[in-house]
Order: sequence, then structure tokens, then C-alpha cells
Amino acid sequence: MALVEVKVPDIGDFSEVAVIELLVKPGDTIKAEQSLVTVESDKASMEIPASHAGVVKELKVRIGDKVKEGSVIALVEAAASAATPTPQPTPQRGEGATAPARASAPASSASPAPAGEGRGEGGPVEVRVPDIGDFKDVAVIEVLVKPGDSVKLEQSLITVESDKASMEIPSSAAGVLKELKVKVGDKLNIGDLVAVVQGSGAAGAASPAPQPSPQKGEGAAAPAQAAAAVAPSTDRTPPTAALPPHEPGTPTGSLPHASPSVRKFARELGVPLEEVKGSGPKGRITQEDVQAFTKSVMAGDTRTKAATAKAPAGGGGEALGLLPWPKVDFAKFGPVERKPLSRIKKISAANLHRNWVMIPHVTNHDDADITELEAFRVATNKENEKSGIKVTMLGFLIKACVAALKKFPDFNSSLDGEELVLKSYYHIGFAADTPNGLVVPVIKDADKKGVLAISQEMAELAKKAREGKLTPAEMSGATFTISSLGGIGGRYFTPIINAPEVAILGVCKSQTEPVWDGKQFQPRLMLPLSLSWDHRVIDGASAARFNAYLGQILADFRRVLL
Ligand code: COA
Repeated sequence: MALVEVKVPDIGDFSEVAVIELLVKPGDTIKAEQSLVTVESDKASMEIPASHAGVVKELKVRIGDKVKEGSVIALVEAAASAATPTPQPTPQRGEGATAPARASAPASSASPAPAGEGRGEGGPVEVRVPDIGDFKDVAVIEVLVKPGDSVKLEQSLITVESDKASMEIPSSAAGVLKELKVKVGDKLNIGDLVAVVQGSGAAGAASPAPQPSPQKGEGAAAPAQAAAAVAPSTDRTPPTAALPPHEPGTPTGSLPHASPSVRKFARELGVPLEEVKGSGPKGRITQEDVQAFTKSVMAGDTRTKAATAKAPAGGGGEALGLLPWPKVDFAKFGPVERKPLSRIKKISAANLHRNWVMIPHVTNHDDADITELEAFRVATNKENEKSGIKVTMLGFLIKACVAALKKFPDFNSSLDGEELVLKSYYHIGFAADTPNGLVVPVIKDADKKGVLAISQEMAELAKKAREGKLTPAEMSGATFTISSLGGIGGRYFTPIINAPEVAILGVCKSQTEPVWDGKQFQPRLMLPLSLSWDHRVIDGASAARFNAYLGQILADFRRVLL
């Protein structure tokens, strides 16, 4: 067992690169060529492989350290059988070197290409893979443009990736992309045809002639830009300047900032990296970010763009093993008009759909005798005519519901995993119909307010709702919601619970009905109540009791005082 130093091999023309990720820790058993750390220049991220198999005794670098060729990364107790030669500076693959530098560092020189030749002066320009160092058969992992797109000179067309580095292939001409000759998964080598660009005269004329890849500090463009000016003309000879590797932080196109191993990890899981928020320096996406994203998708908290796009108008259902939403050409049957859903409709549709699918809803229907309460309401409005405050049944209902919620606290709760969060505050939401869709303003601390104050606040919030002026704060924090269709009509309906609440009261239009008083039928004003509740939290008996108690209060509001 020998203790060997694993050093940074030749990483091309990068003088100093920062360590951004430690992929192993002391005590880990590693294989030869296993990546130990990820380093990053301002233009590329690369992984530094182990030159020996064995056990990591000590890591000599920390995140943030700057390293260069020859810097010691780790001390490895090399397994006797696995001892391998020290890494060679930038060895070529297939030459028997065991620890090739896996950086995608640009080469330091480039062959000049003839100025103006095939560089977008009107004719088609073939964009080919330039010199990509010692990488062979790099896979296309992303296609950043499509035929018909206008591309600028140096704009990245595709991303390729070896097992250790990702790089972007730039366009050697400005113009319109006529043809893409590659697709995701294709393996490319130097000189392979990537695309055909119909050069635009103006852009071509404005483009500088390809220059040999200049070194930093020579007053030339940054390496990525310089390297981009490499792809040749229609000449099949591949250029010799290096590729611009993936530029972290400010990627060309929408390429997310992540190390090759994280990209690979994301690809294995099918995670769309561009949708993952990076928590690393400069927004770099770490393996933990990918894992957190995956967990969030699995928990149903996040939906990928692809899943959303796949969801048809009906909201999808493939995940539930349902038939796809029927696709009908309605115009075949008669004239139709298409109009986009309003923002509010889109948001409420997504929420309602989730709540309907995730909550086991049950609805109890009941009637409350509000004959005396209605008489009191009418009298109150008469008395308060001058104040301008109009009391509707909804004001009383809010107060009555608070009393019922106090008596049945489970209805004023939320499910949090395997715990029930019982709230000691009573914020009552009410569904308001607006020209743009349904919104739910919230009367905060309804238990501390009288019916007049509640009615006044409700009128103000309903007005703001109709004008689209409600603030998010005015629509959040509800512990229970009432949806009243009393001013419109109907008998009963099934309101959908407004998660994370566990119950909602639907109210329809009251009407005078014959009610048997034991001796005869009496004309009584009856209010239809529909209480939907979450069967995970509430059971049928409690719901029936809640409705019955609510009915008692509405029949005789003095009970609120008890
Ligand atoms: N029975 C009989 N009449 C009723 C009633 C009931 N349950 N509830 C209200 N009314 C009467 C009111 O007294 C009022 O009568 P008036 O004009 O003679 O004074 C009339 O109906 C209109 O009331 P409204 O303006 O709707 O006031 P409200 O306080 O009852 O409701 C809103 C306010 C904002 C909730 C209501 O306008 C609204 O938007 N409702 C729709 C909610 C909804 O869409 N729910 C469905 C969600 S799926």
C-alpha cells in the first residue's frame, strides 16, 4: 500500500480553476479514474479524476480553493493491485494513460481560416465540429436551435458532452438555420457536420474572419468568443481552435449551469435541468438540487414543463391511468370561437383540479330555517339605511360558521403530513364571482368582528375583487370558506374544498317551504346548506353535527352568545 498524491493534470489553457464540488471524502474507496472534485473556470466545469484506485486518506482541497496543473488534490492509499502510473499531462485517449485530463479546455492554438470564406455572405454555410481536443464520440445532449431560427455568429447550436465535460458548438456564420444534421444522442467527432446555415450577407460581412484562438491577455476576445470564431466555411477541413465550453452562470441559450456529473445524474433521472433552481455559487445546480427537484415532482408539488405541456385541456390524467382527454375538432360540427383562459381561471383551475383529485370529498346537504333571521336582517338594514352598510345573509353565515368552527375545531384545521394543525384563529374566505373568474377574499379574525363590520368589509373586498385589485394578503390565510350562490339561485351543490382547508360551506337561495311543525305545515324560509368536508380529517357524523348546529344558530342567532 503506497500513499500517492493525486494531482491536477493538464487542464488545457486554464491557469487557475476553482474547486466547486468535492465528490469524495476521506475514507471513501475509489476506483482509478473516479472523479474526485469538480473544478470550474469562468468558462467550463471539469472533473478531476483519480490516478489510482484505493482509499482516500486526505483531501487536500476545499470548496473555493484555486488549483492548477500539478496541484495536489488528494492523498490516496493506493491498492497494491490497482496502482497506476501518475497522470500524464493531457494524455490522448487510447494511449494507455490511466488518468486522462477530462477537461474541455480550449486548445491554445487555431488555424486561421480564410476571411470571408463561406461566412454568411449569402450562401449556405456548413457548420462543423471544430477541434474538441482529445475527445472522441462526444454525445449530443441538447439541441439549442431549430430549422428556421435566425442564428448569430458564435451562437451555440448544440451541446455535446463527453463523460466528463460539456461543451457548446457555436455557429460559424450568422443567418438562418436551414438544416440541423444532428439530433440528441448522436455521437460527434471533429469535422462532423452539425448544421447548414443560410448566411445573411449583412451578418456575414459584419463577422470577423476566424482567427486563431487568442490567448487571454493578448487583447483578444475571451476564450469562448475567440474559440467560437472557428468553425470554417464550406471547407471540410475541421478548424483547430477550441470549442467554447459551457459557460456557467450566463449560459448561451438556456443551458443550465451544472457540472458534467450532475448533468449525467439529471439525465439518468430524466430531470429537465433547465427547470432546476441551482443553489450553488453563481446558481450552479448541484446533485442535491436535482434530488430535491425529483422529490418535489414525486410529491406532486412540482410539475415539469413537459408534463404541463402534455396535459390537455382537461388537465391530463395519464398519471392516473385515465384515458386521454378527447380531442375533438368542434369546428366540424358548427362555428366555434376560441379564447384563452384568464389568468385567474388558469390559476383557480389548477388549484381546484388538485383539490378535487387529492381530497376525498363528501358533501352533506341540509336546510336551515332562517325565517326569523331574515326578518331581523331586513329590519337591521332598514335601521342602518343611512349608514350605507347592507347586511346580506352571508354576513350572518360567516358569524354562524365561526361559532360552529369553535364548537367543532377539526373543521378549522389543516392536514400536515400525519399531523392536524388546529388553528386558534378564524379567518373566513368567501368565494366571489368576478368578470375574470372566481377569487376568494378573506375576512380575517371574523370571530372578533360583528355582523355589520363583517358585511362592510365583505362589500369592500367584493368590490376590490370585481375590480381585480385584491392583494395576495387579502386572499390568503383562510381557515374555512363559504361559497354563496344565494343571490343567484339553485338548491344544492358540491363545493370543492379550498386546500389546505378541510371544509367548505356552499349556500344556495333560500325559499319559503311548507314545514311540518308537528300539527300542521307552516311556511318557513329555508336556506339550503351544502357542507363539503375532507374525509381524511372529518367523518360523516361530525359533518352532520356541524350542519345541524349551524342550522340551530341560524334558526336562533342568540345561540352564538352561549
Ligand atoms: N337566499 C336568498 N337571497 C339571497 C341569499 C340567499 N341565500 N344570499 C343573498 N341573497 C340576496 C341578497 O340579500 C341580495 O338581495 P337584494 O339585492 O334584494 O338585497 C341579493 O341576493 C344579491 O346578494 P349578493 O350581492 O350576491 O350579496 P352576498 O353578500 O350574498 O354575496 C358575493 C356577495 C361577493 C359572495 C356574491 O356577489 C358572489 O360573488 N357570489 C358568487 C359566489 C360564487 O360564485 N360561488 C360559486 C363558487 S363555485
